[in-house]
Amino acid sequence: MNRTIFRLINYIEVNLPQNLKNHINRACKIGEDLSEINNVDLNKVKIALLGHDLYRAYNNKELLKEAEKNNLYISKIEKLSPILLHGKLASLKLKKGFQISDKEILHSVKWHTSAHKDMSKIFKVVFLSDKIEPEKLKKSTELAQIRKIAYSDLDLGLLMYLNYNIKFRINRNEPIHPYTIQARNLLQKTN
Ligand SMILES: [Fe+2]
Ligand SMILES: [Fe+2]
Repeated sequence: MNRTIFRLINYIEVNLPQNLKNHINRACKIGEDLSEINNVDLNKVKIALLGHDLYRAYNNKELLKEAEKNNLYISKIEKLSPILLHGKLASLKLKKGFQISDKEILHSVKWHTSAHKDMSKIFKVVFLSDKIEPEKLKKSTELAQIRKIAYSDLDLGLLMYLNYNIKFRINRNEPIHPYTIQARNLLQKTN
């Protein structure tokens, strides 16, 4: 097994709560499918998915504290919803703590909550594997439909997921990350 993957699995085993371990495992399984279907490097997808939620169990106060400690830029929307910082912190941890220099992995992890206007195939696989893992599908029949589409057309699945996510946030009167809108508009043009 790839040494980085081995180190990440050990770190997760020791440091993360069980519910998060389970989510990461389920996302990795979807990642295996989507990597094969889309012919992308499974190792990269696996490293990104193992690392994406290393800070997901932190509360708002801890996230802000950790971001300040690491001199991270905190945008307006991240101040409003500090949970958005967990991707940035995870990306930094992968870089500094696990010596990962692959830009595609670091970028996919950094923006896995919002999506981004620059998304490689690997990023799209990582993003959707996190969002359409089986436990999350239980929340909505629309998501189950999106998963089916994502398995046959990655871009269309991503567009539909972003539409779903934006509608969901509007219905709950929640803020929408500007990068989510940018990513959605770009995909909407091409699909
Ligand atoms: Fe996350
Ligand atoms: Fe996640």
